Amino acid sequence: MSRRVAVGADHAGVDLKDELAALLRERGFDVEDRGTSGHGSVDYPDFAHAVCADVTSGHSELGLLVCGTGLGMSMAANRHLGIRAALCAEPFSARMARMHNDANVLCMGARVVGAGLAEEILSVFLATAFEGGRHARRVAKIEPASDPTAD
Ligand code: RB5
Repeated sequence: MSRRVAVGADHAGVDLKDELAALLRERGFDVEDRGTSGHGSVDYPDFAHAVCADVTSGHSELGLLVCGTGLGMSMAANRHLGIRAALCAEPFSARMARMHNDANVLCMGARVVGAGLAEEILSVFLATAFEGGRHARRVAKIEPASDPTAD
């Protein structure tokens, strides 16, 4: 069965998102494209929330979000319980985000990285598995306790 990746972008990230979506399809991934689809000005959180809903529901295994800097997308994505979004501008962070943090959403800034570097970052992110072990305990502690005042 193919792995599915949900992708989303705002107007600043749409061209890079489309290039990366094409790369994903070439490599046999199913792509759930949550937009945007043109260059008209839009609000990045709308697309971050759509992609994150796809991932938290289990419809997609991973998410990819692109805006101008990647910052707004990562901030919006990390408001979702169960989402661990990593903003990456080089491959080392992408690898570590998967190995140690079990990141399930990759964010990039189209005004920060070129297409070649973005492809490399995405490739590393997709190819790297979570190490588990001591990292699983730490990742579990990322989620806020449901009620810290409860007995
Ligand atoms: C849009 O101009 C820009 O603010 C957005 O793409 C992103 O960089 C926000 O974090």
